[in-house]
Amino acid sequence: MQKIAMLGSGFIGRFYADSIHGQRGRDRVVAIYARSEANAKKFADDYQCAFWSTDMEEVITHPDVTMVCVALPNNLHEAAVMLCVKHKKAVVCTKPLGRNAEEAFRMMQAVEEAGIFAGYLEDLCYTPKFLKALSSVKDGALGRILWAKSRETHPGPHSNWFWDKEQAGGGCILDLGCHCIEIARNFIGKDVKPVEVMCWAATQVKPIEAEDHAIALVKYENGAIGQLEVSWTFRGGMDLRDEVMGTEGTIWINNFLRTGFEMYTSGKGGDYVAEKAESNTGWLFPVGDEVNDLGYNHMFTDMFNSFEQGTTPAETFYDGYVVNAVIDAAYRSAQTKQWEPVDLPVWRGHEGLSQAKTLVGYDENYYLIKEEVTHDGRHKIILKHKHSQQIVERDL
Ligand SMILES: NC(=O)c1ccc[n+]([C@@H]2O[C@H](COP(=O)([O-])OP(=O)(O)OC[C@H]3O[C@@H](n4cnc5c(N)ncnc54)[C@H](O)[C@@H]3O)[C@@H](O)[C@H]2O)c1
Repeated sequence: MQKIAMLGSGFIGRFYADSIHGQRGRDRVVAIYARSEANAKKFADDYQCAFWSTDMEEVITHPDVTMVCVALPNNLHEAAVMLCVKHKKAVVCTKPLGRNAEEAFRMMQAVEEAGIFAGYLEDLCYTPKFLKALSSVKDGALGRILWAKSRETHPGPHSNWFWDKEQAGGGCILDLGCHCIEIARNFIGKDVKPVEVMCWAATQVKPIEAEDHAIALVKYENGAIGQLEVSWTFRGGMDLRDEVMGTEGTIWINNFLRTGFEMYTSGKGGDYVAEKAESNTGWLFPVGDEVNDLGYNHMFTDMFNSFEQGTTPAETFYDGYVVNAVIDAAYRSAQTKQWEPVDLPVWRGHEGLSQAKTLVGYDENYYLIKEEVTHDGRHKIILKHKHSQQIVERDL
């Protein structure tokens, strides 16, 4: 059983508490830290936490607490993690790990040196659809992964601090791109190095300093490409989609909008439909079980089981640091309009991979390019000669 200190009583703190109390059933949020007494007390009442305080260190050091969950604005992650390091408390931290790779690197180094358990709460790498897709990819169902694209777009976050570049550390690239990068990284292979990034970013709609819309390509050392599409100006709800393309297959995942659950209402019922739904009348796209469909349940189960069994969770502070490093390169590229290298002073995967090729031999003289039955009934093959390089076409 885990006894959790929740730092932050806001949007994600409540989703996390719902999940922690939900899936395994035996874990509890026992202590809550919030800035205001009123928020701390309200959260403590709602989740039956025995202890609440507006003093973060008091909550972290509470003797009942076995693990700390950081659910605070981005500019407070590092200080909260460092307090856990100081008191040698196991810690899990929400995304993005840092506002930049420097912060994330310091956090990673500190937890590793202290030898405490640390998990990166990247929920979208734990959705049921993602987990099934990843196991198919790992089993080879898609062959060699060539392209992994992830999209997170919605009408913008719900609290003031997200819109302030200093507190948030960036705009939608940092807030949403962190999910997309880690999703693509999982599909392409976490041991394959992300080497450079090309990014377009713009502030198209909102009166803010940071970007509210961006698209980026992340090149991996083996030739695979990751793609992210993020926006805080998308209208119509929260769009979470992944696409994976390999030499042997394709996966499309729709995690949130248009998942096969469609509802019409004239508006006579309750208000809440799903996270960031923009409407509660007309045709709607509700989500069956948000806490599960967004990955929170499987994420906390992995974190708690790993902590209890002394193993490493699927998402670690090292992963959070790699994601931050890719994001830093994206910000540089948006400025320079060039491919920018990903700066990874610590890298624990393969080094020096060359661009992989998949050549399918047809016979001793030819490679197969394509085989197809056309609408006029011909069975065609297109071949390339192994030595002359000539490309020929034959009917079978
Ligand atoms: N899918 C996800 O994994 C996901 C979704 C939403 C948010 N998040 C992350 O969770 C973190 C918190 O986001 P949120 O949406 O819950 O924000 P929020 O504004 O709803 O809540 C933040 C909470 O932190 C505390 N807080 C706020 N400002 C503070 C300050 N200056 N000093 C001390 N405490 C303060 C308050 O208790 C507040 O309720 C962010 O890092 C965000 O990126 C993750």
